[in-house]
Amino acid sequence: MFRKCLTTFAQGKNANNAGCLTSIVCRTAHRRASNKKADSRPPKVLITGGLGQLGIECAKLLRSQYGAESVVLSDIIKPSKEVIESGPYIFADILDFKGLQKIVVDNRIDWLIHFSALLSAIGEQNVPLAVRVNIEGVHNVIELAKQYNLRIFVPSTIGAFGPDSPRNPTPNVTIQRPRTMYGVSKVHAELMGEYYYHKFGLDFRCLRFPGVISSDPPGGGTTDYAVAIFHEALRSGKYTCYLRPDTRLPMMYIEDCLRALLEFMRAPSENLKRRVYNVTAMSFTPEELVEELSSYVPNLHVTYKPDSRQDIADSWPQVFDDSEARRDWGWQHKYDLKNLVSFMVKDVRENFIKLEDAKVRASST
Ligand SMILES: NC(=O)c1ccc[n+]([C@@H]2O[C@H](COP(=O)([O-])OP(=O)(O)OC[C@H]3O[C@@H](n4cnc5c(N)ncnc54)[C@H](O)[C@@H]3O)[C@@H](O)[C@H]2O)c1
Repeated sequence: MFRKCLTTFAQGKNANNAGCLTSIVCRTAHRRASNKKADSRPPKVLITGGLGQLGIECAKLLRSQYGAESVVLSDIIKPSKEVIESGPYIFADILDFKGLQKIVVDNRIDWLIHFSALLSAIGEQNVPLAVRVNIEGVHNVIELAKQYNLRIFVPSTIGAFGPDSPRNPTPNVTIQRPRTMYGVSKVHAELMGEYYYHKFGLDFRCLRFPGVISSDPPGGGTTDYAVAIFHEALRSGKYTCYLRPDTRLPMMYIEDCLRALLEFMRAPSENLKRRVYNVTAMSFTPEELVEELSSYVPNLHVTYKPDSRQDIADSWPQVFDDSEARRDWGWQHKYDLKNLVSFMVKDVRENFIKLEDAKVRASST
């Protein structure tokens, strides 16, 4: 191993191996230290891509469990005042391997939650950047996790399946031939993680999430309509949907999604029969969501103008089979369509519409 690293380093085959020598030393020291302390202190967690739809809420959940200082949120974008005030936040570009090494060492990180990514629709608009962020970035964090003996979580997606996969239901193990760069990069991440698990014993954990619904703005995915509709319908009573009314996709409320992540990270390794699991809560179409939302917005007017995202949605699972997650580590969702809509309406009204109205009133006086 030692010689292999030196040879590869000398040949300049892999920039990541620049830290190989030091990392062997670090890893040994880290292992000894962490073995002693593993059970006595809460895990120190680094979240990459932490200012997106999932990251900020994930940090809130983990901080409520392990303390504010135990969770380091990171991203390449400027944080709000609220983010800075709620706990440690640092700049971390996942394409900078040495920078990541420094963060892991300086903060004595145990768990890495890797959220940085370009989502499906955005990825199709900038394929070279999606390749870098979603593929090179995953190489960096997986190698980093191996070197420093971290437990690593990388989310995958329903987008990791394609038109050749069974769509209703889509089982945990089946054909995966996605047609988006996002999907290709996620299958790659799943396989890389499984390979590192089998080859090096890396504690790699991956959940394939469906469309995640929360009141925060989503990052450019194909299921974004199910968030945008709440903001627009509650403000104007109208919405133009970019998917056909009968497009069925699996979905999950953010609270279920992040609880799944936490329960999965805490699950004893021996319970996990695999390293990649489907998880979901419900499946619905735009017209079913509109019908449920109509009881809060009685004159809701929705028009349908499918765009390129329709082609992506048509190749994705309609119903996700997560029975293996339920069997192996006890996954159970709490939110169905009815209570999802009720929570979203309350959240968007209180935390967005009322606040914006108050700002407008303040600026006009
Ligand atoms: N939101 C969903 O519905 C959903 C569903 C399935 C899987 N996922 C996965 O969960 C993860 C988080 O999703 P999200 O919705 O929060 O995404 P998001 O697009 O909202 O956030 C991604 C973050 O990655 C950051 N990022 C981009 N390039 C980076 C770089 N070079 N270095 C560091 N950070 C960088 C962005 O600044 C952004 O804040 C992603 O991996 C996504 O594939 C999300």
